[in-house]
Amino acid sequence: MPSQAIAKAPGKAILLGEHFVVHGSSALAVALDLGVEARAEKYDGNIISSGREDNIVSSKIEDAKGFLAPAAASLKQFLKDYSLSGVKVRIMSEIPESAGLGSSAASSVSAVAAVSRLFDIKLSKKKLYDYSMLAEKIVHGKPSGIDAFVSVNGGLVYARRKTKRVLQCKPFKLLVSYSGLQRNTGKMVSKVSSFKEREPKSFRNLIKAINALVPDVISGLKKGELPILAAAMNFNHEALRIVGASNQTLDAMVRDARDEGFVGAKMTGAGGGGCIIALPKQGGEKEFESFRAKYPYSFLCNVPADGVRSWLV
Ligand code: PMV
Repeated sequence: MPSQAIAKAPGKAILLGEHFVVHGSSALAVALDLGVEARAEKYDGNIISSGREDNIVSSKIEDAKGFLAPAAASLKQFLKDYSLSGVKVRIMSEIPESAGLGSSAASSVSAVAAVSRLFDIKLSKKKLYDYSMLAEKIVHGKPSGIDAFVSVNGGLVYARRKTKRVLQCKPFKLLVSYSGLQRNTGKMVSKVSSFKEREPKSFRNLIKAINALVPDVISGLKKGELPILAAAMNFNHEALRIVGASNQTLDAMVRDARDEGFVGAKMTGAGGGGCIIALPKQGGEKEFESFRAKYPYSFLCNVPADGVRSWLV
């Protein structure tokens, strides 16, 4: 008789188009093979916890605060909708928080997926996405939904306004490196919006340029041809610098990645902190090892990863 359900949901990186997507451009994101694992078991009470071994923080689901609050909000609604109670959920994340890698969406997606598996309730991807969006609204106020969509579906994801879909993509390696600086999405979105107000013509031209690159990048990724993605990433970083989303730390990391031999490099997500991503020429092991010597919080990911999976143990 299985006593526990486990779910694993991926984090995400935005390959192209962050910020510009808020103003109508297209964006591409990819699921990472780094994510969040949730373990659910029946219990006397409703409890959520996070962490490993001697560093576990726990709370009643209805009272959860801080970084437990988003996943708890999704769980609370799910338990209410299905008149369920009596569950303990533990969340273990491989991704840093507030780094732009979708940790809050992956936490709520894995938590709800584990509990629904435990109670043998089949949730559609759409429903799981909707529960995760309750969490995302706590984190961002007005989330685009990219993180939740990628975490549920996995793959390479195209996003524009309300449209999101998974596209065909050959696997490739991607460096993800955390600057150690937490970023604030709302603040960076306002900063970029004020650039748009000051310089409407330049902003329009940058959006046009990003949009023009996306179809070629998509057809390259479908065939496993990466040079166009590399060029688009390099251009996209310059565009993000122009609109004020980057900073000295991210610029230095991008320069170092290129100096180590990565063919494309850019900041990813809201910026002002968070992460950079970079594309190696081939396997990437050599470039990765020398880059990691300088930036220890680096991962060489296999992308695109699958969406959330759950099973009983
Ligand atoms: O929160 P982040 O770092 O994943 O960035 C979100 C991407 C933005 O385009 C800046 C905002 C959005 O809602 O799309």
